[in-house]
Amino acid sequence: MSEPQFACINGELIPKEKAFVPLYDHGMLYGDGLFEGIRVYNNRVFKLDEHVARLYFSAKALNIELAIDKTAMIADIVKTAKANGHVNGYIRVTVTRGEGLGLDPKHLKGKANVYISCEQLALYPKEMYENGLIVVTVSTRLPSPDVIDPRVKCTGKYINNIMAKAEANRYGAGEGLMLTREGYVGEATGDNIFLIKNGAITTPPASIGILQGITRDTVIDLARGFGIAVSEPIITQYDVYNADEVFLTGTAAEVIPAVHFDGRDIGDGKPGPITRKLIAAYRDLTQSTGTPVA
Ligand SMILES: Cc1ncc(COP(=O)(O)O)c(C=O)c1O
Repeated sequence: MSEPQFACINGELIPKEKAFVPLYDHGMLYGDGLFEGIRVYNNRVFKLDEHVARLYFSAKALNIELAIDKTAMIADIVKTAKANGHVNGYIRVTVTRGEGLGLDPKHLKGKANVYISCEQLALYPKEMYENGLIVVTVSTRLPSPDVIDPRVKCTGKYINNIMAKAEANRYGAGEGLMLTREGYVGEATGDNIFLIKNGAITTPPASIGILQGITRDTVIDLARGFGIAVSEPIITQYDVYNADEVFLTGTAAEVIPAVHFDGRDIGDGKPGPITRKLIAAYRDLTQSTGTPVA
């Protein structure tokens, strides 16, 4: 028999099968909430401080008031992982504005709700990390940052990513590349994009209207540590098609090569040497750093 599993709701550990969201939770009614997806490797929560910092930046941007500070949030996340014996896996933290029917936030009862749960999550089979992903550019555009800034990791915005992912699925692609309203390269539906050309790395700037991924920032640091130049220019599809190598980054997907875009091979259509080097370095880092669970 498997061990009992727990979710944490507003600091309280509850058996997972009894963990429910209230009917009038604003996250449920309007997608009025925030989230973080976090990974645990080898009994340590990877980049926990960075995820919690991003959650609080998102809360500030949306004026969502949390009842607990970052230290207590970190403690609750670690407590939940520990209660579940979560040595390797994924943690989902969801914050919603609170409970109450109607849009007006002044009618909400109490403060934000915080839901924390643990799961096993493998986004892609192992072969895709070895052979690379097929990607298509989707017609669903990124929301413009003057409407919803995608740096805010808010739940409601993700309907757009879900539509984009469904579009990529219809083409049998592993991921969908999303463009900005102006047609510049933004990000994939759940990952950031990196190009390598003549030994140098480029990735779109966060201010263009993408999520500033924590894996993205980690990979930029790793690349710079290897002496590889990294810049954040405006990127077009032309740059993608003519890159020597392309890879995607995200907490869930980790670092994954992308070898075929819109019917074109990238380079020779195989994961390249710099991508492989960064995948290996990222794996090493995830195994050796993080906030201890136990
Ligand atoms: C739209 C989008 N872009 C990029 C990322 C990658 O971000 P991170 O590396 O922080 O997981 C994610 C994952 O959360 C995402 O949802």
